[in-house]
Amino acid sequence: MVKSLVLLLFTLLSLACAINNKFLADKILSADGNPYVVTKVTTSTYGIVALAQLSLTSYQAASEQVIQSLTISIQFDTNTRVRVKITDTDNERWEVPISIPSYTPSGQNLQYTISPIVEGPLSIQITRNLDKKVVFNLNPAQPFFYNNQDIGFSNYVGYPISVIGLGERVSTFVLAQGTYTLYSRDRGSPIDTGSTPDSNMYSSQPFYLAIDDDLAAHGALLLNSNAMSATVGENYVEFRTTGGIIDFYVFVGPEPEAVINQYHDLIGYPVLTPWWGLGWHQCRYGFQNISVVEEVTNDYTYYDIPLDVMWIDIDYMNEFQDFTLNPVTYPQANFTKWINQLHSSNKHFVPITDAGIGVNPSYQAYLDGLKQNVYIQSAYVSGPTQGVVWPGTSVFVDFFHPNSTNFWFNQILKFEKLTSFSGIWIDMNEASNFINGEVGHSPSIITNLTMPYTPGEDVNMRSLDVASKHYGGLLEYDVHSLFGFTETIATYRYFEVYNLRPFIITRSSFVGTGRYAGKWSGDNKSLWPFLEYSITGIYNFGMFGIPFSGADICGFQLNTTEEMCARWTQLGTLYPFSRNHNGIDSIDQYPWSFGSDLLETSKLAIRNKYWLMLYFSTEMFKVSQNGGIFFKPAFFEYPDDANLLNNSSEHFMLGKGLIVHPCLWEGIDGRVSYFPDDIWYNLYNGNKTILDAQNSVYLDMTLPGDIPIHVRGGHIIPTLDTSKTVLDVETLRKSPITLIVALDQNGKAQGDVVFDDGVSLDTLSRGHYTQIHYNYWNKNATTTVLTIQTVHRGYKMIQGEFPYISSIVIYGINRKPQSVIFYSGGTYTPLSASISLDVGDSVCTIWFSSQISPDRYDGFIFNFGSQ
Ligand code: NOJ
Repeated sequence: MVKSLVLLLFTLLSLACAINNKFLADKILSADGNPYVVTKVTTSTYGIVALAQLSLTSYQAASEQVIQSLTISIQFDTNTRVRVKITDTDNERWEVPISIPSYTPSGQNLQYTISPIVEGPLSIQITRNLDKKVVFNLNPAQPFFYNNQDIGFSNYVGYPISVIGLGERVSTFVLAQGTYTLYSRDRGSPIDTGSTPDSNMYSSQPFYLAIDDDLAAHGALLLNSNAMSATVGENYVEFRTTGGIIDFYVFVGPEPEAVINQYHDLIGYPVLTPWWGLGWHQCRYGFQNISVVEEVTNDYTYYDIPLDVMWIDIDYMNEFQDFTLNPVTYPQANFTKWINQLHSSNKHFVPITDAGIGVNPSYQAYLDGLKQNVYIQSAYVSGPTQGVVWPGTSVFVDFFHPNSTNFWFNQILKFEKLTSFSGIWIDMNEASNFINGEVGHSPSIITNLTMPYTPGEDVNMRSLDVASKHYGGLLEYDVHSLFGFTETIATYRYFEVYNLRPFIITRSSFVGTGRYAGKWSGDNKSLWPFLEYSITGIYNFGMFGIPFSGADICGFQLNTTEEMCARWTQLGTLYPFSRNHNGIDSIDQYPWSFGSDLLETSKLAIRNKYWLMLYFSTEMFKVSQNGGIFFKPAFFEYPDDANLLNNSSEHFMLGKGLIVHPCLWEGIDGRVSYFPDDIWYNLYNGNKTILDAQNSVYLDMTLPGDIPIHVRGGHIIPTLDTSKTVLDVETLRKSPITLIVALDQNGKAQGDVVFDDGVSLDTLSRGHYTQIHYNYWNKNATTTVLTIQTVHRGYKMIQGEFPYISSIVIYGINRKPQSVIFYSGGTYTPLSASISLDVGDSVCTIWFSSQISPDRYDGFIFNFGSQ
């Protein structure tokens, strides 16, 4: 009786408090403009620091929730990046502890101007010098509030913008005007149009790119991990976050890709991907036992389809416990036998691990964690917070705890003794929970009833109770969206110790995750629109600095069809991360599961990926070297063409040299397709594309067949000759190279290739790579030259690797050389070559009889004589 009375009282109190808070929030919002007044300003070469006080005359709703005094620091980070940090002057607040690569603020040659900050109403305006456009504007007339759990402000640029980014969600590339929630949530792919705030998914990526009507771009990051919403308006982006601070970075662009580079300079460049990881992957939820896995692996060989990685989902686990094998369906002896076979055919194994550790007194990992005290702690009882995931009642590692990395590392090491794997898939790490909050305790301490503002649904939904405690007094409330990120860093440690490039695929991510891992887009659906959304998803994660990403090819939930799976395989083999993955209730979707359309198309598509593997690895390497984006909308390469911004998934680019027109629609075998204004050749046969007045041409898309890929004039694409026969990318490293030289209007072309061991983590820091720049140019009317310039030499090829350039295929030429001379160190040697010219296609092919190393010499001279 007493207990129920107390409960009733408590509920009434929370309700009263909630009503009060809601009232407060409404008041805050309706409060016109910015209630803070600047009282002091200090300026230096590197920035400005100002103090602002809450002014009660303009703002009557002050309570203990409202921060009275703010410190505003505007730091000139670089000449294209400025940081605006607004904190509570009197009290410390939660700040995201991500390590940003160190830098010294520049203060030099700034490409932006800050309007003078003066005493009086708080107003900050930053303009881009180039075109005088406002890129950041804290306009005193716009709502601004800074309360303990409710901080809001608007970057009101005042001119129309198209906004891109703000992940994670399934959406169009340019976001519709509306409100978007950012908070890690396990949710299976609702389509977010900005009208239902409950459509946020696994990651929180509070970065956006804004493009104005003149096609100039700027970008911004709100470095904050709390649950938040971002409202995209016609001429503003407004953030409302439930905690932390305002730590806002502005990138001045002015081209979209410049913004992306400026962003990556801040958050760090992505980790290198192992060479084998760029191959083809097969997975499925519902491999009933190891024999099925073995059969699928063998079927790849039987059907003569390359395969590099086999994955096993939670099916292999004993009672869904991480780091265990099911003794009945996955007995260790059979497992080991399969793995040995897999390795002997140069293939790799990647197992899943889940965030929830099963509570079970005979489960060693659970007991180890208890002993080392590494679990997130309950807010209600003494001991770990308990949720429910696949193993039933589960606890969760607190990756902020100093013991946790060792704990996690040791569990992975122990698992390594059970089975041998090359990478780790980390799933359910939002962290996902099948109940809302804690076993036996409905969330009551922090809920949408106690919070002045909740973006989307209650923060405890499918989450651990947000009142749960982390090491150092941190609250799940603040760090919830960092679970996947911190787990990724702990997992990375395992690979780091072996100096291996990590192969970690995570579902949840945060700002900076790309420095450690790749990402897949979670539970998509076998529905046609999801082909298109997969493209916008990869664009977004490329912008977020996680270029190694992909979607479940052929779809995860629901059943695919032969045609959809064929189209998806064509497209998916061009994702940086190409994995066919399927849900437990869905019909099989292996390349051989339907008919010849899928089988033939899959073979072509996977072998195409292998044909282009050196281009993929080189371009991905360059992104790890300098930042930037590999799989991107053509608009990023042609930022003056507004047509490319609409329907941007219909024409994507791989690096600077290739454009792809995927077929994203059912029942179509060809389509009039738009191209940027340039010279384009069909990659497969060198046919020059003749565009109509609308820059379009009909592209054949008949199945079975190749996906339309065109090479841009001016680019050299390295291709691998044995791609039509190999069954794995390891063997592909022995392949001779053919260079496709696609000429621009001046008869020139350039390209790069990077050779390295494909596995070491320290390749870049130790310079263990060789980077070659190929340059094809006209020396005079009768002579052209292909220069092979070594930009960096640090990798010694092992015997037989990429042994020689077998041929050069020139697209866009209508004469053929009479002789080819090869020069090195001042010595000129005539080469014996067989040369053919296809006049109709304007393609000249030169096959060399001698074996010319791709990286050792200075170049070729092509002598055309007078023709
Ligand atoms: C959820 C993941 O998103 C999915 O890919 C996986 O198959 C299931 N968990 C089962 O582990």
